[in-house]
Amino acid sequence: MVQKLRKILNSLIVEIEKTNDFELKKDIARQILTKIFQTKDIWLDKDFFEREINDGCFYTLRIYLNPKDEYCITIQGWGAHHKTPIHNHDTWSSSITILGSEIQYLHGKIDKPYPEKYQPINTIKKIFEEGDRIELDSTELHQVENHTNNIALSAVFFMKHPNTTDRVSVCEESFDVKTWKVVPNKLKIDT
Ligand SMILES: [Fe+2]
Repeated sequence: MVQKLRKILNSLIVEIEKTNDFELKKDIARQILTKIFQTKDIWLDKDFFEREINDGCFYTLRIYLNPKDEYCITIQGWGAHHKTPIHNHDTWSSSITILGSEIQYLHGKIDKPYPEKYQPINTIKKIFEEGDRIELDSTELHQVENHTNNIALSAVFFMKHPNTTDRVSVCEESFDVKTWKVVPNKLKIDT
């Protein structure tokens, strides 16, 4: 499945590797996500994800990581009713819903140097169905919830690998701002 998708994306990956123009990189990233969605009948093994993803858990399947950790393309698997903390990405990112439905809560922006506390005001709640996409800059705070009883999948492009960023989470009760590191369950498939 990964090999099939890499083959589909190869020309766009070559193109993004060739440019240092940030706006052009973003534009190619958008094309990559569109292509992942439009070709899902070819590469998506739904049974694999349904078998591997447990309720309440979060998984990633790596499609591509730039050798310098500059950006990565990942399929994110959301178990039924999994909800992330409020967090930013500390880099530009975009994602598209591939399968199922997700709720995105948008909680405003957080600038560096990060405050010790952040209280979200005017949270916006949006339901994302298949084909819907979102773009976030480095300061935007969001939260993702799979509100359904089924798995949800999305494809995400991070301009910097999440492990190399200074992203933070915000506690919903105390509003404490803390460094956010995640070790996701990693999916592996060779076909
Ligand atoms: Fe996120």
